[in-house]
Amino acid sequence: MQPTEHPGIYKKNDRLFTVNPEGCRGIKVYNEQLFTEDDKEYRSWNPYRSKLAAALLKGLSFDLSSDAKILYLGAATGTTVSHISDIITKGTLYAVETSPVAIISLLKVAEKRQNIIPILSDANHPERYQHMVPAVDMIYQDISQRNQADIFTRNIRAYLKPNGTGLIMVKARSIDVALKPKQAYELVCSALQKEKFRLKKTVELTPFEKDHAAILVIQ
Ligand SMILES: C[S@@+](CC[C@H](N)C(=O)[O-])C[C@H]1O[C@@H](n2cnc3c(N)ncnc32)[C@H](O)[C@@H]1O
Repeated sequence: MQPTEHPGIYKKNDRLFTVNPEGCRGIKVYNEQLFTEDDKEYRSWNPYRSKLAAALLKGLSFDLSSDAKILYLGAATGTTVSHISDIITKGTLYAVETSPVAIISLLKVAEKRQNIIPILSDANHPERYQHMVPAVDMIYQDISQRNQADIFTRNIRAYLKPNGTGLIMVKARSIDVALKPKQAYELVCSALQKEKFRLKKTVELTPFEKDHAAILVIQ
């Protein structure tokens, strides 16, 4: 098992892994593989199930310290949330999800982990969770809505610390089915530039996710 440039993320045979916390040994969140080496239990991180794993394998790089505070928009059932939770061992993940069905599974993931705060709310209204979420080091968004750039912008304005990192997973077809994927990504990039965010990098997520890109910005 090789450490990567990102603390808490490991690589073996071109596959990514995170470490299951002590209290979760033997427990899977989805159908990931578990195996033990040097007394640590590693969880395989599937890039076909998690766009963050896909983006990392496609060369995206960003600061993610073990004590980071992260606001996660579109947490769903907790697949990617669980891997970030493995990485930020001393940090906190505020996980916003609008679906009451998905949040039931997310609550089960959070029950076993000390650093996930599930929030049943609509990310279109950042003010609704202001009593729970402090200023954060990173905002991660994976919401396939036409107004995803606007949702991202408003949450950055409300919660991201100066020089903090924003990472948005863009589904081209949600922006406009009539546009080519690259045109859709450019539309999102120019909307974010208009807000004066600094664009750091865009990576397309093929072959793991078709017509999706990860866009990294610094506030
Ligand atoms: C593609 S899934 C996210 C997958 C998840 N990020 C992962 O990797 O495990 C998108 C999620 O965003 C949620 N969602 C859609 N609109 C939302 C909104 N306005 N606020 C919060 N969550 C939203 C959906 O219910 C869905 O669970």
